[in-house]
Formats: sequence, structure tokens, C-alpha cells
Amino acid sequence: MEKELILTPGTLITSKTDLKGKITYCNKDFLRYALYEEEELLNKPHNIIRHPDMPKAVFKLLWDYIQNGKEIFAFVKNRNKYGDFYWVFANITPSYNASDEIIGYYSVRRKPNPKAIEQISDIYAQMIQIEKTDGISGGVSMVEELCKNLGKSYNQIVFEMQKDLK
Ligand SMILES: Cc1cc2nc3c(=O)[nH]c(=O)nc-3n(C[C@H](O)[C@H](O)[C@H](O)COP(=O)(O)O)c2cc1C
Repeated sequence: MEKELILTPGTLITSKTDLKGKITYCNKDFLRYALYEEEELLNKPHNIIRHPDMPKAVFKLLWDYIQNGKEIFAFVKNRNKYGDFYWVFANITPSYNASDEIIGYYSVRRKPNPKAIEQISDIYAQMIQIEKTDGISGGVSMVEELCKNLGKSYNQIVFEMQKDLK
């Protein structure tokens, strides 16, 4: 059975990718939880650690934001080499060159608020169900609906869940 690995406080899991999402750099904390060797990760698509419990719509939003030059926050359930999982609170940002062109992406991940994970697990499970019948757009609509109901942006909601669960 898959086990949950809990990030220790102070952990900073970082990685960089090229424009297509292939890993170009990862730090020691990344390797500590993903349990791959660095050479098994470099040049591989970042979905190497994707967990099947993650809704497709979350990654669609992620790519829409960063390709448009915006940062995004997300709770992400990742799967390591041995099938165990670990939740992270991630911030993903575009990296620019001197001509202001996006040349890659950067992600920093920390220990998530455990209360936020309880809530987000339920939301993600519902999104996955909707995606089975309505596809990615069903999952995206669910997020849009949530933002509308709360009168807040997606990033605002996620950031507040990490900071202090209401
Ligand atoms: C900088 C950066 C970091 C990423 N980190 C993760 C991650 O930790 N886990 C993950 O599943 N996907 C991550 N992704 C998203 C993946 O590129 C991919 O979109 C996702 O795993 C879904 O893959 P799929 O569409 O092939 O199923 C990251 C993307 C970027 C650009």
C-alpha cells in the first residue's frame, strides 16, 4: 500500500524546467522525497512524479498561468519512485531572460497546511469525478465556480488555505 511521506518543516523542494516542462534542475530536498537519482530526473518530463489523484484541471490552470507570465500556487499530491506519496504547497513561476522572454519555469514547494490538505483532497476527488464525465473543462468549471462563489481569485483562495484555514 502507498504510504504518505510528510515534509519536515523547513523543507524547500525546488526544481526548474524548460518551456515544455522537462526537468533541468532539482535540489537535494527534491531527491529526498522523490527518491529518484538526479540523473533519472534530468531531462525527463515533470509528470514523472504525477500522482493519479491529481485532477487534470489543476495542471491546465498551472500551465495557463505560467505560460501567460503569471505565478500560480497549488496543493499538489506527488508520487515518488516507490509509489509513496507526499503533499506539497507549490509556487510555480516563469523565469525570464534579459529581453523579457520566458525561458523556463521554477517551482518551490513547502510543507502544506494539513487542514488545507483535508479540504483539498475532497475537492480534488470531486474534480476527478467530474472530469470522468465532462473532461478537463468540467474540472476547470468547478474551480471557476468556487472562485465565483467565494468572490476571490484562484491564487487568493489557495494561498489563504495554506496560511490559515477558515
Ligand atoms: C516548474 C514546474 C514544476 C512542476 N511540478 C510538478 C510536480 O511537482 N508534480 C506534478 O505532478 N506536476 C508538476 N508539474 C506539471 C507537469 O509538467 C505536468 O503538467 C503534470 O504532471 C501533468 O502531466 P500530464 O498532463 O502529462 O498528466 C510542474 C510543471 C512545471 C512547469
